[in-house]
Formats: sequence, C-alpha cells, structure tokens
Amino acid sequence: MWSLSPLPVVGAPMAGVGTPELTAAVSAAGGLGIVPGGYLTAARCAADLARVRELTDRPFGANLFLPTPVDEARGAARLRSYAEALAPIAAAAGVDLPEPRWDGTDDFDAKLGVLLDQPPALVSFMFGVPPADAVRRLHAVGSRIMVTVTDAAEARAAVAAGADVLCLQGADAGGHRGTHRVEAEPNSAGWRELLASVLAVAPVPVVVAGGVMGSRDVAEALASGAAAVQCGTAFLLTDECAMPAAYRAGFTAPELTELVVTRAFSGRPARAIRNEFVARLDPLAVPVYPMVNQLTRPVRAAGAAAGNRELVSLWAGTGWRQARTGPAADVVAALVRHPD
Ligand SMILES: Cc1cc2nc3c(=O)[nH]c(=O)nc-3n(C[C@H](O)[C@H](O)[C@H](O)COP(=O)(O)O)c2cc1C
Repeated sequence: MWSLSPLPVVGAPMAGVGTPELTAAVSAAGGLGIVPGGYLTAARCAADLARVRELTDRPFGANLFLPTPVDEARGAARLRSYAEALAPIAAAAGVDLPEPRWDGTDDFDAKLGVLLDQPPALVSFMFGVPPADAVRRLHAVGSRIMVTVTDAAEARAAVAAGADVLCLQGADAGGHRGTHRVEAEPNSAGWRELLASVLAVAPVPVVVAGGVMGSRDVAEALASGAAAVQCGTAFLLTDECAMPAAYRAGFTAPELTELVVTRAFSGRPARAIRNEFVARLDPLAVPVYPMVNQLTRPVRAAGAAAGNRELVSLWAGTGWRQARTGPAADVVAALVRHPD
C-alpha cells in the first residue's frame, strides 16, 4: 500500500522552518522527508535538494505551493483596509509596509524546472490541483504526485488531475490549511471524520495529516485505511528544525494556551497559537493570499529579529503540547513504536 519509504511516516514540508537536514533525517530514519519549496527562490530550492542528496541516499519529496488566482479589483480595496489596520503595528516595530505584488507566482515555473532537472521521488502540492502539463512532465521524469486535500470534493479533483497519492489534511493541522479555494472557509473536521468519504472517491493511497503526534494516532490511522501519516508539529522542536527563537518561545510558553485558525498572517486560514498579533488583527483579516503574507512579512521579520513572540506566526497543530525535543529520528521511531 505505502511504497515510498520503509515506514509509513511523512515529515511534512514546513516552509520557513524546515531544513534539508530535517528532510534528510526523516528519510534516513525510514520515513519520507519532504523539502519545503514554498517561498524559496528556484536557486535556493535547487541548493536544498542538492544538500538533501549529500546527506542521504534515501528517497525524499519536495513541496510546491500552487499560485492562486486573485481578483485584484476586489482584493485591492480589502488589502488597503488591512494595511491601515496593520500600519500602527508596523510603525511600532519600526518597519514600512511593502507594496504588494499582484503578479507573484512564488516562482512556480522555475521551481518546477528545478524538480524536473533533479526529480525527487515525490512532489507534493499545496493549495490546489497541479496543472495537467506539470503532472505529465513530472510523471515523465519518474516523480509521483501527492496533492493536499481537505474534503472529498477536493480529493475527487486531485484524482482527476492525476494525483498518485492524496494527503488528507484535517482541521487539527498546524500551519496553513490546504483548502483549494482561497476564499472558501475550511471545514472544521479532523481526518478521522473525513477519511471514509475520501477513501470512497480515491483509488489511490491516502496519507492523513493533522494532530498526529504519537504511535496510537499512527496505529489508528493505518487501521482506518490510511496508507501513512504526515506530521509537522511533531518535528517542530527537533534538533534539525530551524525554528526561530521567537517562535519557539511562543510555542513553548505555558501561558499561551489558545489555538486559532486565522487569516491574519497570510490571508489564508492557518492554525496558530493566539498571540497579540492574532488578537489585534484576526477580526480585521481579509482573504487575499499571498498579498497579506507579503504585507505582514516585515512585521514578522522584525518580531523574529527582536525575539518578540507576539509579532510572529506561532503555527501549531492541536497536539503541540506533545512535541518533543531531540533528534528527528527519535520522533520517527516513537511514531511507529508499538502502542502500549
Ligand atoms: C510550521 C508549519 C509549516 C508548514 N508549512 C507547510 C508547507 O510549506 N507546505 C505544506 O504542504 N504544508 C505545510 N504545513 C502543513 C503540514 O503539511 C501538515 O498538514 C501539518 O503539519 C499536519 O498537522 P500537524 O502539524 O498537527 O502535524 C506546515 C505546518 C506547520 C506546522
């Protein structure tokens, strides 16, 4: 059923904090590490793939964000109102707000070219369904394709587009929800509720993600028909993860106890620990991705540079309190240990 790695554990790509070392460590431990390609330049993506190949000869994957069409006429007014709300916070942090770019594609074509040049075993896509041409060319160089979905309708679309594997991401997941349409409100169902309906329309292996933190979760997922699990939050505190100090401080703070799904940081719904940024901006957030992400970047960067947990995105899945420190290989081993 699961043939991409010896163990049915996928290390989630984590844009901004994942490293080639983390990807390689998960693969070397018998799982499948995935290089986070989102937000990277094509040159950096190529360098990260090459670095993983230096560190391990095990198979691994790479992840890309699909560019999402934005209605500029409608989005511009919404974005202006958000920029006004953000302005005092930016001023207090000593940064200017940038002019958003409406023609950005996250360098999708160039990064696809990099993956075609040095094909990983698996290419996973977030935020939609890959174009037919990309699917055809990746298949031609031998890469399998995984598409993140959040319900049965998205699963059907992904299978029709040629996905070889689905990643069913439930609402417990940390970071961005991979809902295909930016403006769609994501459902609040976990993979346990969604899996049967997705298996019913998917004649391909289904990997489940969201709140998978221990071997009981893994055993339950496999017994329910999942081919493997994908974990992000479980790896955040590991030695190989490049979690900035401000993020780590917020993630481990006992007094920060509330998780929210918010569009405040990027314009897309994402699960994070509630801090001051969320408290002030979540009520005013607008569904304009990735322009809100561009707009908030200098504030987040200033927060990270100052070690200020209140200004950075504290992405976390519902199992965040169970995240453990140490080598990523130990987390992989703990996930597949026989549950007591
Ligand atoms: C910090 C962080 C960054 C993430 N970045 C990405 C990404 O770049 N691409 C992607 O497909 N998923 C990303 N995700 C979502 C994961 O793929 C996965 O769905 C999620 O981590 C599963 O839930 P869990 O965090 O409870 O394990 C990210 C998750 C986190 C926590």
